[in-house]
Order: sequence, then structure tokens, then C-alpha cells
Amino acid sequence: MNTLAFFNNKGGVGKTTLAYHVSWMLADLGRRVLVVDLDPQSNMTSMFLNERRLEQIWDPDVSSGQSVMGALEPLINGTGDIKEPHVERINSRLYLVPGDLLLSGYEAELSEAWGNCLDRRQPAFRHTSAFHRIAEMAAQKTQAEIVIMDVGPNFGAINRSALISATHVLVPLAPDLFSLQGLRNLGPTLRQWRDEWNDRKSRNPAKELSLPTGEINPIGYAILQFGVRDNRPVKAYDRWVSKIPDTYHRSVLGDGAKVESIETDPSCLGLVKHYRSLVPLAMEARKPIFHLKAADGAIGAHYEAVQQCGTAFRELTEKILERI
Ligand SMILES: Nc1ncnc2c1ncn2[C@@H]1O[C@H](COP(=O)(O)OP(=O)(O)OP(=O)(O)O)[C@@H](O)[C@H]1O
Ligand SMILES: [Mg+2]
Repeated sequence: MNTLAFFNNKGGVGKTTLAYHVSWMLADLGRRVLVVDLDPQSNMTSMFLNERRLEQIWDPDVSSGQSVMGALEPLINGTGDIKEPHVERINSRLYLVPGDLLLSGYEAELSEAWGNCLDRRQPAFRHTSAFHRIAEMAAQKTQAEIVIMDVGPNFGAINRSALISATHVLVPLAPDLFSLQGLRNLGPTLRQWRDEWNDRKSRNPAKELSLPTGEINPIGYAILQFGVRDNRPVKAYDRWVSKIPDTYHRSVLGDGAKVESIETDPSCLGLVKHYRSLVPLAMEARKPIFHLKAADGAIGAHYEAVQQCGTAFRELTEKILERI
């Protein structure tokens, strides 16, 4: 099972929007895709589902247990292990394990479990591997080949547990100082998580548990031009873009490669445009931008932009497929 996480600790740069569009495109290209929303903000889930459906999923009186929290419930309550997750069918090749705002309450438990793995405690391994096992169960149920994970913008215990379950990670970046500073932190953090999990993994007393491999292979970065303020001079934008390859290679890959520009950097998977008013149109229609039709409001110049968006995402997604 290939699990790809979209991760960067800089918030609000367009990570979830990017992961949403790549998920749709993977399905359009014939892959079976499972999206697991592990960000308590649940933005990915609300891109896929309308409010009515979300209300049902989150309302314990109407139907309990339809978000990721439902699968975690027995483990968190101490009444058992995780249960089979509910999976929402988006289309014949695209499925979702819905997120939940209540997931943020799991942070402390996961943090404690990480420490307790060192003492070979079985419940600690059940908690630490829970996201991996939920994704695995849901992928089996839907026969998904690729799992896409969306997570929040921080280095907390939820993200650590999510990321060690990822075989691959894609780093969405905005060309600004904040993203670059975040990038300098990201590489060492991923390496630390990988090393610490390798150390813990060997201490697992419950041999029947399926544990995450902790690979977290970085497949490259995508530059989100959305993150750039409109009125910023082109010079400033170019300056930050030019610093990305070196920072990525040094911090994330640690390979010391000398790469001159994003054009010659094999780790640069693509640039994501600012799609302006097409984004709210797509969110309203609960579709990716490249599926917008005239009836959704994509007329005139919009129509052309929709086609271009499709081409850009197809190229980006094909590159992602090559890497995983
Ligand atoms: N390519 C884009 N063009 C235009 N608007 C975009 C684009 N990508 C994202 N946005 C808008 O930017 C806002 C933040 O995007 P998004 O939620 O994807 O960011 P994020 O990095 O996942 O945030 P967080 O760190 O909070 O998880 C949203 O309102 C979204 O609609
Ligand atoms: Mg997000």
C-alpha cells in the first residue's frame, strides 16, 4: 500500500486544496484512491461532503462512528481495539475516511503512547499504529491502491503518528520566508520521527499488530503560487523561489546536491497557480476545478482556465505516480 502525505508545518498555503485536486486526478487517471483526513480542522472532508452529510456523520444521535473518530472510539474508551472505519464513497474510484474536529482530543494520548512504546507497552503500540491500521483496513475494504493523507500544519503527536504511516511525503511550499523557514525544520523532524519509530518498532510486544513502516520517503515539493500575496513584487517572489531547491536538498534530502533552479531540480514536481474565483466555484460545486462545467459558472475565460488547470494537474499527478 502506498500512502502519500501532503505535509509542511506552514499553515494556510493550500496543502489541502492541492491534495484534494491530486486525489481527484488520480481517480480520473484510473487509480483507486482512498483519502484519509487526519487534520482535526477537517477541511478536506468539507471539500468532499456537503453540510447535510457532514451533520449526519458527526451527529452521534443520528449515526455514530462515521468519521475517523468512530473507528478510534473503542481504543480511546479502553473497551477494545480500533473498529473497521466507515468509508464514504465519492465515486467508483474515490473514497474518503472523514475527518473529525474531535480528533484534536487524541493529541495527548498519542503523545503519551509515543513515550510508552519505549517501555514495550502493548496499548502504546495500538495507539501509535492506529492511523496506519485504519488506513490499511479502509484501503482493503475499497481495494484502494493509493492512500492520500491530509494533516494539519504542525509537528504534534497526531501528525507524527500519521507521518510514520506514510510511505511517501510531498511537501507543498509557498515561495516566502515562512515556508522556507518551515522547510529547514521539516527535514530534521522527519528524520527524527523515522529514527525514533525504528527504535520503538523493534520493542513491540504484540506481534500480530500491523505496524507502520516509518519510511516517509520525500518525493519532492510543489510550489503554491497561491501563497504569494498579489501585490508582492516579482523580484521578491523570484528570490524565494530560487532558494527553495538548495534548502530542500539540504534540509529534507540531506544530499548536499547543488541544484541551480527549480527548472533543473528533479524534486520540483510543479507549480500550482492561484486559481482565484475558480476555487470558490469548485468548493460550492464540491468538485475539483478541472471538473467545472458551464452550469457551475465556468464560462468564458473561466472555461479556458478550467482546461489549463486539468492539464497542470494531470502533469503533476503523473509525476507523483512516477515517484511512488
Ligand atoms: N491554488 C489556489 N488558488 C486559489 N486559492 C487557493 C488555492 N489553494 C488554496 N486556496 C485557498 O486558500 C485557503 C487555504 O487553503 P488550504 O485550506 O488548502 O490550505 P492548507 O495549507 O491546507 O491550510 P492548513 O494549514 O490550515 O491546513 C482556502 O480558502 C483555499 O480555498
Ligand atoms: Mg489543510
